[in-house]
Amino acid sequence: MSASLENRGQFGSKLGFILSAAGSAVGLGNIWKFPGKAYNNGGGSFLVIYILMVALIGTTVMLAEFTLGRKTQKNAVGALRELNAKYSWVGGLGILTGFIILCYYCQVGGWTIKYIIAYLTESTTVYADPTAYFLNMLGVNGFPLEGAIIYPLIFLGLTSFIISRGVAEGIEKLSKFLMPLLFILLLGLMIRACTLPGAGEGVAYMLHFDPSTINGNSFLVALGQAFFSLSLGMGVMITYASYLSKDDNLVTNTGVVCVLDTCVALFAGFMIIPAVFATGIDPGMGGGFAFATLAGVFMSIPGGTIFGLLFYALLFFAAITSSISILEGTVAFLVEEKGMERKKTVVYVSVVLFIIGIFYTLSQAYLPIKGVWWSLSGIEFPIFGDFMEYLTDRLLLPFGAFFTTVFVGWIWGTDNAIKEATSDGKFKFGLAPLWAFLVKFAAPVAILCIIVAGLLLGMS
Ligand code: PHE
Repeated sequence: MSASLENRGQFGSKLGFILSAAGSAVGLGNIWKFPGKAYNNGGGSFLVIYILMVALIGTTVMLAEFTLGRKTQKNAVGALRELNAKYSWVGGLGILTGFIILCYYCQVGGWTIKYIIAYLTESTTVYADPTAYFLNMLGVNGFPLEGAIIYPLIFLGLTSFIISRGVAEGIEKLSKFLMPLLFILLLGLMIRACTLPGAGEGVAYMLHFDPSTINGNSFLVALGQAFFSLSLGMGVMITYASYLSKDDNLVTNTGVVCVLDTCVALFAGFMIIPAVFATGIDPGMGGGFAFATLAGVFMSIPGGTIFGLLFYALLFFAAITSSISILEGTVAFLVEEKGMERKKTVVYVSVVLFIIGIFYTLSQAYLPIKGVWWSLSGIEFPIFGDFMEYLTDRLLLPFGAFFTTVFVGWIWGTDNAIKEATSDGKFKFGLAPLWAFLVKFAAPVAILCIIVAGLLLGMS
């Protein structure tokens, strides 16, 4: 056994693991992405599909990842290699996906810091023209030094610092402190938003189920969002579960993490959409939803600046507990598989991903990428930033999850996985055979159909 394996950390407690895994799951995906997707895909109808995707496919894949990690006590690549060396590339694919996500995740994480400071020091400037303020951060008026470099660097620096401290000292301690805080903040903000005059219409929109708004695309968006939100399909949950002691019940852990993550997404949806309806602001601008659109909301409610400040603090907490989990996935792989030293690895990886990430922000407004040099060959490519999200959410994550289920269902075998999941090999309510069926048949088939449908539907 190599020195790095002997020194592997471990979560100190059951609660510590649950909060850390929930910390990974609850992130920008829940608060920055989910409400916008719900709004654009039919409100209540989207919620129904999303919950269905989490309940049937998300939980199935999460348990599969947990069993792989805990069984082997290794990073994503090492875990698959140990069980069947021919498939270690599945873990590698996951690590690549996580790396691409982290490139842009740190940029958006940096924006949250920028907004915390903005609400502390210059809320009136933000309110004067929220969209202009946001676009200025992205570089419409010149190189976005703050939005692309300074704040993302601070965010990434904090992420790297925590990761370099290790599992129990860094990840677990931070999550135990931040996750309860985040829950309380979010609940408070949701109640505030839903009690605004005029918010009822937004609540109704989020509760209204209209089958005519559902199509193949909604399923794809919901599934990609579920994987992203639950941190699945990229080996992060394999890595986290590898630090878990043998006597934890993985089925219970899966249930708790999925429920917590979905509750946060729903709370965020029921906070943001009603507030947007109440203030009558056009909730356009995909990625700007949580920044530009919400500023209009905070501006028009009593005590809004304080709520705004709390909101961005919340977004920042959620983001950092997720970014550390993605970085941990990559670092654990390099340390354990390539024999690199932990602290150095953190620095090298961070530098590379930071440089790539800069282009995410630059491509939002500063670089004339769309329609200029991307379209030289006559083909219109999406802008770089959208392309990163498209590639990961719609292709790499679903593929990663697909191969994970195929691996557990058909290569390693559901019997082995079930033995690993609970100490007595039994699931509550006799659910083990159902899970085996979902892993072997239902989940891979559903994921594949959705990937194909998504490719046919293109980027819409
Ligand atoms: N689940 C996190 C979120 O919702 C993002 C994430 C993706 C974290 C992949 C880890 C791995 O923001």
